Amino acid sequence: MEELKAYRPKTSPELDPSTLSNYTCFTVKLTTLHFDIDFEKKIVSGKVKYDLLNKSETDHVDLDTSYLDITKVSIQNESCDNQYKLHSRKEPLGSKLHISIPASTPKNFQLEIEFSTTSKCTALQFLDKEATDGKNHPYLFCQCQAIHARSLFPSFDTPGIKSPYKFSAKSPLKTLLSGLLIKEDNENNTVYFEQPVPIPSYLVSIASGDIARTSIGPRSDVMTEPVNLAKCKWEFERDMENFIQVAEKLIFEYEWQKFDSLVLPASFPYGGMEIPNLCQLTPTLICGDRSLVNVVAHELAHSWSGNLVTNCSWEHFWLNEGWTVYLERRILEALAVIEAKQQGKGDKEAHYYGEQVRQFNAIIGWTDLENDLKSMGDNVDKYSILVQDLKGKKKCQKKDEKEDNQSNASPDDPDDAFSTVPYEKGFNLLYLIEKIVGKEKFDLFIPAYFREFRFKSLDTFQFIDYLFDFFKEDAVKLDQIEWKKWLYEPGMPPIDPKFDTTLAQACYDLAKKCYQYALSEDDENEFTQFKLVANEINDFSPSQNIVFLDTLIAYEKVAGFSWKQHKKTLNRMATLYHDQYTETSNAEIKFRWFYLQATGEVLDFEVAMGEFLGTIGRMKFVRPGYALLNKVNRELAVRYFQRFENRYHPICKAMVRKDLQLD
Ligand code: BES
Ligand code: ZN
Repeated sequence: MEELKAYRPKTSPELDPSTLSNYTCFTVKLTTLHFDIDFEKKIVSGKVKYDLLNKSETDHVDLDTSYLDITKVSIQNESCDNQYKLHSRKEPLGSKLHISIPASTPKNFQLEIEFSTTSKCTALQFLDKEATDGKNHPYLFCQCQAIHARSLFPSFDTPGIKSPYKFSAKSPLKTLLSGLLIKEDNENNTVYFEQPVPIPSYLVSIASGDIARTSIGPRSDVMTEPVNLAKCKWEFERDMENFIQVAEKLIFEYEWQKFDSLVLPASFPYGGMEIPNLCQLTPTLICGDRSLVNVVAHELAHSWSGNLVTNCSWEHFWLNEGWTVYLERRILEALAVIEAKQQGKGDKEAHYYGEQVRQFNAIIGWTDLENDLKSMGDNVDKYSILVQDLKGKKKCQKKDEKEDNQSNASPDDPDDAFSTVPYEKGFNLLYLIEKIVGKEKFDLFIPAYFREFRFKSLDTFQFIDYLFDFFKEDAVKLDQIEWKKWLYEPGMPPIDPKFDTTLAQACYDLAKKCYQYALSEDDENEFTQFKLVANEINDFSPSQNIVFLDTLIAYEKVAGFSWKQHKKTLNRMATLYHDQYTETSNAEIKFRWFYLQATGEVLDFEVAMGEFLGTIGRMKFVRPGYALLNKVNRELAVRYFQRFENRYHPICKAMVRKDLQLD
């Protein structure tokens, strides 16, 4: 702990370098937000009213905006059209909206702003009706995390401040917002929602289109385009309520009343997004075998880690995601225990099996982390650190600029810093703490931590201080953790956790056999010695297939070995595994399979990968997919990207453009 002293921020929670707003001066008592969707012009206009308490007697409000038109500003219902200024754009944070507060304004006051999005809005994606599955109506959806809410409405766009919301929206189509439905006024095409729990701006969301709804549990519905509704129901209804109950046992009661999910069109750029009361999911989860429901468990876990207890800035993102991955794996473990008991296993055996399932999932995460670090190239030193530094090159130290703590810096874009590091390094740090204090004691810490920081935004030091306070008797043990390495040094975690490989072993064994087969490819006698037969993967669960394929891909790292010199083996596998892999509807498997083949520069699969990238917009696949094609066949990569780029969400499009160095 001593070694961390130098890193401790001067004030806690640490200030957010990714906002231009003066959020520390205010309490936001209520945000009233109205959206008016224009599908023809592809813009959203609206009005936001902030009920503010001016805590520090400041004479101005600074808000974040990005590519917004501001049409009217008033304070206490008085128009103040010549008292505000929209500053010029400062990348990557956007344009500060500076509003002077008249001297006569009371401490508690209302600020109202009318605005409109523009075609450059990075949060929204408008889909023409042809791009939807039903093909009859256009669609609008939104993704605000990390710093895109400012392109949707003028905001204190930082996770460091929260507010309850009253939402309304006008649209000719079914419309959903981040809260509980209060009223539908069909005559005026207007819906009303409320979010009584204070939330940060990045959890604001809107979706509108031909959306149907059905129940998947006592407090859960699923919503999606009508043609896909039955499949979505089947995919999630077995697990939904079980997930909530297991999470409640692990932490404490679910505080948001309903947990509804919206399965979005294919261009949704993430696997899932934890919008309160409106969990948003990629349609790639609808694979027909319920094997990707872990994403729902993950987004549900955010109801505590992230949505109740929130990172104070994106530098401390691991507090959101590391905790969520930890909870996700505990939820899946608990369900595996229940399942094993139902199958007649005794208590001890069932718990042992549950733990093995958790370790297996942790292995998948560890491999993802290794692959991610490899793909970071020169940025690895910067982006593989757990507590990120987004302040930018030149840090502003001037004392007289308290409110504008980053005026001289050019901050980093949180989207650029996004990786599995906060997820998996974060998970591993929590797992290590659990190991050190023991699982039983750690289980007491979980609810205590979430209660302590409920409704708040915190930094890493507040977490650590609370941890040491909670485990006073174990402080000596906790002190042995190499904190500085874990939190502030790049690379893989300082400790190899040696996960239990029981469930992974079969995957390793078969992958090794394929590898040996490849090595003996040119030797007629040996070639047949390592017989590869199709049914060897028949007993694999979907996640075992993933580990098998990950292991095969990882052989590319072995010195002197490259799949492109072993096309015979790749072809043999392509024949054997055609039905299970080439034709699978599980995107996690399909992607890895195409990735392996394209790594070996098998042209048919480079093309298959290119085509696949036109059917999905999830960045987890799209970015590494194009990056690989770019490496093995740049011409093809660029051709496919240019063909499909307008299908992607603006965030995804911008990231791939950067990855392919097209700007
Ligand atoms: N909140 C994230 C998605 C996100 C992160 C969006 C940062 C924008 C910026 C979400 O909870 C998430 O982690 N999704 C994962 C799910 C996976 C880890 C199970 C995803 O999209 O793959
Ligand atoms: Zn998450």
